Amino acid sequence: MGVLGRFRRNTLYEGDALALMGELPGGAVDLIVTDPPFAIDFKAQRLNYNRIASNVIEGYREIPAGEYGEFTRAWITEAARVLSPEGSMYIFSGWNRLRDILEGIDAAGLTTMNHLIWKYQFGVYTKNKYVTSHYHILYVVKNKKKYTFNKLDHYPEDVWVINREYWKGRKKTPTKLPQELVQKIIGYSSNPGDLVFDPFLGSGTVAVVAQQEGRHFLGFEIVPEYVAFAREGLRATRT
Ligand SMILES: C[S@@+](CC[C@H](N)C(=O)[O-])C[C@H]1O[C@@H](n2cnc3c(N)ncnc32)[C@H](O)[C@@H]1O
Repeated sequence: MGVLGRFRRNTLYEGDALALMGELPGGAVDLIVTDPPFAIDFKAQRLNYNRIASNVIEGYREIPAGEYGEFTRAWITEAARVLSPEGSMYIFSGWNRLRDILEGIDAAGLTTMNHLIWKYQFGVYTKNKYVTSHYHILYVVKNKKKYTFNKLDHYPEDVWVINREYWKGRKKTPTKLPQELVQKIIGYSSNPGDLVFDPFLGSGTVAVVAQQEGRHFLGFEIVPEYVAFAREGLRATRT
């Protein structure tokens, strides 16, 4: 067996991330970029503002609110185990369950280097409160004395204004990250030939961008339709 056990580089696997991560050898991946499932009453089609519902691939898997803290601690602990000694991780989170993510990071013994804000161009219309138009990204490392940080800009600020992508008339999953955002993370925190891992692939943006940027990738996703969509994205962008 190689460094990835039964898994192969540059491959996507269908299944439960927690169970699959348990089969990965420790220290096997260089960078984790992931946008884990939420614990709110997320209705994919309803939140798919201004888009045609039939273009949204259904099946998005939610975590029941009461189980979210335990789920979060469990997957972050596994993620920390599979990270290489000099590895780093970027975790996306909305504000409503951010506390669980921060507690999971502490429990796993990871060091937070930055608390990044991703500001995007629109939110859902509200009547009695402000419109949410940002996301949190926790940038954490295993060893704060040694990790990859390619300083690509002279003055790299921690607030990133990057627009969401419009997928007019094309199929998409409900929570797709913009490629530009993932490209920035991969450029700063990995080198060509490194292995980039996303345990909650969704439409597979992290794998697609890793492939484009000359990195190896590995990904897990529980919804079969999303795995198929992600594999198709990889085929379409392979050079
Ligand atoms: C927020 S989305 C990821 C979106 C992705 N970053 C993109 O750009 O498309 C989270 C994904 O986690 C998946 N998921 C939920 N529970 C899971 C589990 N236990 N194992 C693997 N995937 C899971 C959901 O189906 C969903 O596709």
